[in-house]
Amino acid sequence: ESLSASAKVDAAGDEGRISRHLYGHFAEHLGRCIYDGIWVGQDSSIPNTRGMRNDVVQALKDLSIPNLRWPGGCFADDYHWRDGIGPKGERPKRINMHWGQVIDTNAFGTHEFMDLCEQIGADAYLAGNVGSGTPQEMRDWIEYLTFDGDSELANERRKNGRDKPWKVPFFGVGNENWGCGGNMRPEFYADLYRQYATFCRSWSGNRMTLVACGPNGLDANWSKVMADRVGRGMRAMSLHYYTVYPSWRDKTPATGFGEDEWAAILSESLRMEEAIGNVEKEFDRVDPNKRIDIYVDEWGAWYAGEPGTPGYALYQQNSLRDALLAAQTLHIFHEHNERVTMANIAQVVNVLQAMILTEGDKMLLTPSYHLFEMYKVHHDATRLPLQLDSPEYEHGDREMPALSVSASRDSEGVVHVSISNVHPREAVELECEIEGLADGAKVTGRVLTAEELDAHNTFDEPENVKPSAFDGASLDGDELKATIPPRSVVVLRLAP
Ligand code: AHR
Repeated sequence: ESLSASAKVDAAGDEGRISRHLYGHFAEHLGRCIYDGIWVGQDSSIPNTRGMRNDVVQALKDLSIPNLRWPGGCFADDYHWRDGIGPKGERPKRINMHWGQVIDTNAFGTHEFMDLCEQIGADAYLAGNVGSGTPQEMRDWIEYLTFDGDSELANERRKNGRDKPWKVPFFGVGNENWGCGGNMRPEFYADLYRQYATFCRSWSGNRMTLVACGPNGLDANWSKVMADRVGRGMRAMSLHYYTVYPSWRDKTPATGFGEDEWAAILSESLRMEEAIGNVEKEFDRVDPNKRIDIYVDEWGAWYAGEPGTPGYALYQQNSLRDALLAAQTLHIFHEHNERVTMANIAQVVNVLQAMILTEGDKMLLTPSYHLFEMYKVHHDATRLPLQLDSPEYEHGDREMPALSVSASRDSEGVVHVSISNVHPREAVELECEIEGLADGAKVTGRVLTAEELDAHNTFDEPENVKPSAFDGASLDGDELKATIPPRSVVVLRLAP
């Protein structure tokens, strides 16, 4: 006997916009994310455009990535932007102190990153250096990037090959300054934020949102201090929440797991709700009109590294479980769209919960990639009011709703309902009443699922997990019925 769920959606309602920026990504100088995963250099035998591998660029373009965060992560607070400009042969070699102490040639710097953003069509989100930098270094970088006039820094940019200034809509004032970004107490960082932010200007028509460093996961005190000491002096603050199990010292593998780890990871990931709630509570106190946004600019599953790869490279496989984790998490972001207007899954290629894995000239798309591709329909759409009554999925001491659902209406009036079912064995019969649908609407859909809990793509079998057409839904007037397979994500499209 299968499980059943009921829901109600108001197709004409309006719960605010689901910002496309919730579907942002993150690329750090870490392991094989930038070097190898994205940058191979102009002389590589791997087909590339100005050093960026064409296969990866095309795949990222197809995802309609709204923004890309760079250069870190922890790397950002030990990065000095001047190292990465000018003739490549003259750029200094530096130690990547946080990630394996490998040598960074600085072949990939500011011009290369901005070129990458232009190639994939993403907005740039830079992270500046507070931990080991100065306010002057930060302000100069911004002038170099964005100033259109006849200043020495703008002219230096021109000499280095870029005449027109770039647009940089998002700029982070440090990263994890409570940890790798300087081990600061929130009181100290709050003052530093005020100082640095004073010198970060929007030049020449660039409109830059500054992003203050936010808390580590569930730490509520950081947000309290930032709310009290900076408050409306900030437009946005970050939040980092990773799903880690059973502990930071002892992480579970990305594949080869059983139901215990399936249930643990998927329920732990739901604590994102609590992490966001902690920040919202503090912000609501000082900013009842909800002008300060929350950018969850690092999130995702963090597993033990793949056997045979260096631990510092954070290289992990990516399974169907990760696609479900992403679906539930993105639904949480949708729900909190009043303040949560940006998020960046970590990281885009070859690191943590990656969209893409590469090996030499080979590339594969992960289940998380496919999930992000299926969810493009929610970018900038209007969130619809939704009520859900879902059965629970229980395993051992873990319990969570089997279904997670979100619905939106795009600019053409098309309604999309995305549904994940974390139950590993049971389908869920969903009956959903949809009010206010256009006359003559029909339902079509796509599904992402597989037989094994840890189903994943390999370089030999890159298409084990990929979306397919879904024929398990019917629409009769305003009655939508769908059989949501176990361990699956379904995206339904409702339109005439
Ligand atoms: O994404 C990997 C690391 O996780 C980042 O460098 C850091 O910000 C976080 O701790």
